[in-house]
Amino acid sequence: MFGKIIGTGSCLPKRRVSNNDLSEFLETNDEWIRERTGIGFRHVLENETPEELAIVAAKNALDAAGMSGEEVDMIVVSTLSSNHMLPSVSCLVQRGIGAEHALCFDLNAACTGFLAAYNTVQAYISMGVIKTGLVIGAEGLSRITEWADRSSCILFGDGAGAAVLREDPSAQFGMIMHADGAKGDALTCEFSYGMENGYPGTVAAVSEEEKRHRTRMQMNGQEVFRFAIRQVPAGIHELLEKEQMEMDSVDWFLLHQANARIIEGAAKRLGAPIEKFPMNLEEYGNTSSASIPILLDEMVREGKIQRGQCLVLAGFGGGLTWGATKVIF
Ligand code: ACO
Repeated sequence: MFGKIIGTGSCLPKRRVSNNDLSEFLETNDEWIRERTGIGFRHVLENETPEELAIVAAKNALDAAGMSGEEVDMIVVSTLSSNHMLPSVSCLVQRGIGAEHALCFDLNAACTGFLAAYNTVQAYISMGVIKTGLVIGAEGLSRITEWADRSSCILFGDGAGAAVLREDPSAQFGMIMHADGAKGDALTCEFSYGMENGYPGTVAAVSEEEKRHRTRMQMNGQEVFRFAIRQVPAGIHELLEKEQMEMDSVDWFLLHQANARIIEGAAKRLGAPIEKFPMNLEEYGNTSSASIPILLDEMVREGKIQRGQCLVLAGFGGGLTWGATKVIF
């Protein structure tokens, strides 16, 4: 048996930064950013933390499901930009929502992370280990963005999204997921772990410049673009073939919100109408593993996604990683 999505939630930081705001300290402009990416705004952390966003998104998802935290058996958080290594964000969410019976862990598959978390919870449900799981994508990318690099910083934003899954005899599940670590240098960030600490005498001095470079996201935009435009449609084709589904049977394709041109290119290559590829990146930019659940939550709350509809969620990003998952809502 698999799990069905019975509630969704999201949470965005209040601070909203426009393209014009960026042009105050960067040589860029609204027209260039919109034309190349479709992005108009992004929300960035001010006093909040990614952990707090995750807790609010989780509470909203539980409210939508009509459940309390006590009924949650498992929490998996996908993140690459939280404040904490210890305790894990999922343990902090557990505390925040009173899910005292839940098993908890975080994972990182970059922008494919929400799918990795969703698939993991489905696996635990299908093994009979749990009945109810909470899947969360939560990011604070603004803190690892290189704000002096106009070719990457214009893309990213912060946010969190969540979904509650409950065991259901009518639930269906199918997935494909891949990685190509050999191309991992296209998108890197070492953050700060281990750069200054270590066994006495084992750690080489790192200059401030080197530290700054290594602890902020570095991206080869064109390589990531080429990878995404090829692998996203290929991954969706692979999923449809594996699940013996026709393209027409899919009501919505919810793609990672990285760039409107990537999503439009994927729709074109798949030969599916662009109307089936909703986008909210104009408002939020690329929120990595939070982008798919934020979009899912918005569409559910707006009544666009209806019970029984077939969704394909498709993620891609750092690693490099990519995947696609079938959801009957
Ligand atoms: N404003 C104005 N000009 C700019 C800007 C900017 N913000 N950024 C770059 N330019 C300039 C460049 O300097 C260059 O000028 P030049 O021709 O004089 O040298 C010109 O614009 C073209 O630059 P390109 O880098 O070739 O622009 P491109 O069309 O490739 O667009 C972009 C860049 C938007 C980053 C694109 O490559 C892209 O979207 N790639 C995918 C990135 C992505 O989605 N990453 C995230 C996926 S993984 C994850 O989600 C974490």
